[in-house]
Amino acid sequence: MKSFSSEAHQKKSSVFSVDGEFQKQLKEAVKRRRNFAIISHPDAGKTTLTEKLLLYGGAIQQAGAVKARGEQRKVTSDWMELEKQRGISITSTVLQFDYNEITINLLDTPGHQDFSEDTYRTLAAADNAVMLEDAAKGLEPQTRKLFEVCRLRNIPIFTFINKMDRPGLEPLSLLDEIESDLNLSTYAFNWPIGSGDLFRGVIERQTRDVVLFTRAERGKQSIERRLKIDDPEITNLVEKELLDKAIEELELLEEAGAPLDIDLIRAGELTPIFFGSAMTNFGVKPFLDSFLNLAQGPVARMAHDGAVDPMRDTFTGFVFKLQANMDPRHRDRVAFVRVCSGRFEKDMTVNHARTGKNIRLSRPQKIFAQDRSVVEDAYPGDVIGLNNPGMFAIGDTLYTGKHTEYEGIPCFSPEIFSWLRNPNPSSFKNFKKGVNELREEGAVQILYDTDQSKRDPILAAVGQLQLEVVQHRLESEYSVETIVEPMGYQVARWVSGGWSSLDEVGRIFNCKTVQDSWQRPVLLFKNKWNLNQLEQDHPSLKLSSVAPVVSGVNPITL
Ligand code: G4P
Repeated sequence: MKSFSSEAHQKKSSVFSVDGEFQKQLKEAVKRRRNFAIISHPDAGKTTLTEKLLLYGGAIQQAGAVKARGEQRKVTSDWMELEKQRGISITSTVLQFDYNEITINLLDTPGHQDFSEDTYRTLAAADNAVMLEDAAKGLEPQTRKLFEVCRLRNIPIFTFINKMDRPGLEPLSLLDEIESDLNLSTYAFNWPIGSGDLFRGVIERQTRDVVLFTRAERGKQSIERRLKIDDPEITNLVEKELLDKAIEELELLEEAGAPLDIDLIRAGELTPIFFGSAMTNFGVKPFLDSFLNLAQGPVARMAHDGAVDPMRDTFTGFVFKLQANMDPRHRDRVAFVRVCSGRFEKDMTVNHARTGKNIRLSRPQKIFAQDRSVVEDAYPGDVIGLNNPGMFAIGDTLYTGKHTEYEGIPCFSPEIFSWLRNPNPSSFKNFKKGVNELREEGAVQILYDTDQSKRDPILAAVGQLQLEVVQHRLESEYSVETIVEPMGYQVARWVSGGWSSLDEVGRIFNCKTVQDSWQRPVLLFKNKWNLNQLEQDHPSLKLSSVAPVVSGVNPITL
């Protein structure tokens, strides 16, 4: 494979754009790409649905092949499970498969109960989200949290209401909950006839066909049986009361519900709803077909000087996730890059926006479950894995041609704060290396005391499991035993106006001032009440729960 510098690539691209061949290829590739993440609460059926989707894509031969199955649920804060927990995000960081001439990139969001920042970052790389609900439970806490992240970026949301083969909540109240709690309009694509033992199938709203519920054999694609709603045979197959109720409810939706509006879907303001059952493979194919019809392709992404169109003829992308020790035998580190524009090619030399360095990307990988293959090229919407010898950090932009820096990925407000002590001074070097690398990787946020003499870093996490992972990894990968000492704070706020605005208000009480890795002031509070108090006392002080995005500046290290 020929290697070329970014400058040469620019020339090459311009030659291409003259004859239009490159643009044609790019256009075709962009048109074919769809990318999404599934947001759900543990146990809603994400693994099961993923398996079924992969089955349609021919990416796996039988259900059960997705490694995360089962393990995900078993993950607890138990030490022994940590390896497994990491195994999950490793095996399913991104799954790419083709279906009906569309290349689909499914980005995995770690689903364990202990919510981590990884999920937020993955959503930053997604163009669409599938919100998966358990029909018996409705909206659950983690789904709500993840939804909020999608909302920040107005990602289109497609809702699959799962486990219809089991007794569930009333379909109308499920819709109502989404509308009122998430402030999201709904448009049901199909409507269930009965539920649980009496689940008979769905009425497809567009065609008015009745699709009868059948259980597909495990690992097999479903063979759907559909009848026209007025087919007399239906009376032999579906109880009249159930069918009448479904028709009545559907009429209600026609009258009072929101109309189908693709612009509102794309704007993340209206969610198409699909009822089905992933386990029995009922409703998954119609869902996938409609999803691919309605989902948006790779979208323009905001960079420092405006939006970058995926059709830009030079390559750009950003790092949204780092993963160390993907393969414990090689102790390697991988940076996951979302391609945003142009074509990525193996052996390409790109600019690294933060450091200004030129980097030749000679071993880009496509990672599917545990298998890896070398990527020859990739297009907007795709994700590639790059070997990362400590060069890449979350949010880094890679580009060829015109200087580009994507908006960084915001750090979300941590809720757990602990001193990280190193009781053994002789291992300081390893301690320092480990802490810096884990911070870089985004395993945890690191804060520092403003008093320089206190050198111990503060671990700031969204979930308790993050702290355990850090400690566990420091020990297993850097041979440092550490002590984690809770600080008793629960709320963090970044001071938007920086140190000067903090100086202006003078002495403040009931909070601790620390600094983040970019030496920006952060206030830690024991509880929300103390935060409210400060806000009342100093209304001029602007506080933010989300760390302002930093790009192009190197953080301070230990
Ligand atoms: P998760 O990744 O979101 O955590 O959920 P997962 O797919 O592992 O599914 C959680 C449980 O829900 C599994 O049962 C799974 O079989 C079941 N499930 C998923 N979809 C459906 C469905 O449409 N209907 C019904 N009735 N169950 C469904 P399990 O007993 O915990 O595991 P397993 O023994 O089935 O593997």
